[in-house]
Amino acid sequence: MKVDVQEIKSFQRKIREFYRQHGRELPFRLIDDPYAVTVSEIMLQQTQVDRVLPKYRAWLKKYPTWKKLSLASNKSILASWSGLGYNRRALYLKSIAEIIIEKYHGVMPSDIKELKQLPGIGEYTSHAILIFAFNKRLATVDTNIRKALLSEFNLPPDTSDSEIQELAQLVLPKTKIRQWHYALMDFAKTLPKEIHLIYKNKYKQSKFDGSIRQIRGEIIRQLTTQPFITHKDIAKITKRTETDIAQAVSDLQKDKIIIIKEDKIYLQK
Ligand code: ADE
Repeated sequence: MKVDVQEIKSFQRKIREFYRQHGRELPFRLIDDPYAVTVSEIMLQQTQVDRVLPKYRAWLKKYPTWKKLSLASNKSILASWSGLGYNRRALYLKSIAEIIIEKYHGVMPSDIKELKQLPGIGEYTSHAILIFAFNKRLATVDTNIRKALLSEFNLPPDTSDSEIQELAQLVLPKTKIRQWHYALMDFAKTLPKEIHLIYKNKYKQSKFDGSIRQIRGEIIRQLTTQPFITHKDIAKITKRTETDIAQAVSDLQKDKIIIIKEDKIYLQK
């Protein structure tokens, strides 16, 4: 990929100026503690900032450290997660806490390969942790940054992840790398609707209503307020087919979120 040096410079100026005037001061942008950064990034993976904010604050109050989180019960963390969706992320966070306490003596590694081995941490999040918590000069691309770069450089919607990563690295400034990424995220939010449609999320989430995910969410919600639930209870609450319920239960079992004993469904401890 080739981009003109002047074009890069003017893009950088534009984004910097935009951030100076319109940047958002979000609480997770004011910290660089690896624990808090990881919590925020995992919450933000699939949930909007507005919904994340209260949950992020409450989470850090309740589990302020890796150690505290590693000792929490699944029931308590799933209750704290409720409202954010995609509950397995809460359990990933707890597994990460256990690994960091046991394998890394409480200190999060700053090596990309080690980070990627942690549950729930992929390409974007591993880079985000290195940038936001360890001040590394790297580029990372989430769906918003992807849209900003594609539209600015007039690239086709099917541009590959590796090409876009290469471009992100090319346009990366020398300094203030954290702010650069916040700026790109905020800038992307202001792009016109048509741009969002053209570059619509590759990772578009499936519709929630009527989905298996909705049943999964309901089962977990119930299990944070009562010790067990049965297939019959779930059918009564969700009014969904036996097949759908069986699918949701089997998915949760595979993800090690629940266990079944004598036809009763419990949260896995
Ligand atoms: N603002 C919006 N999304 C963000 C993220 N994932 N990390 C930091 N700041 C953000």
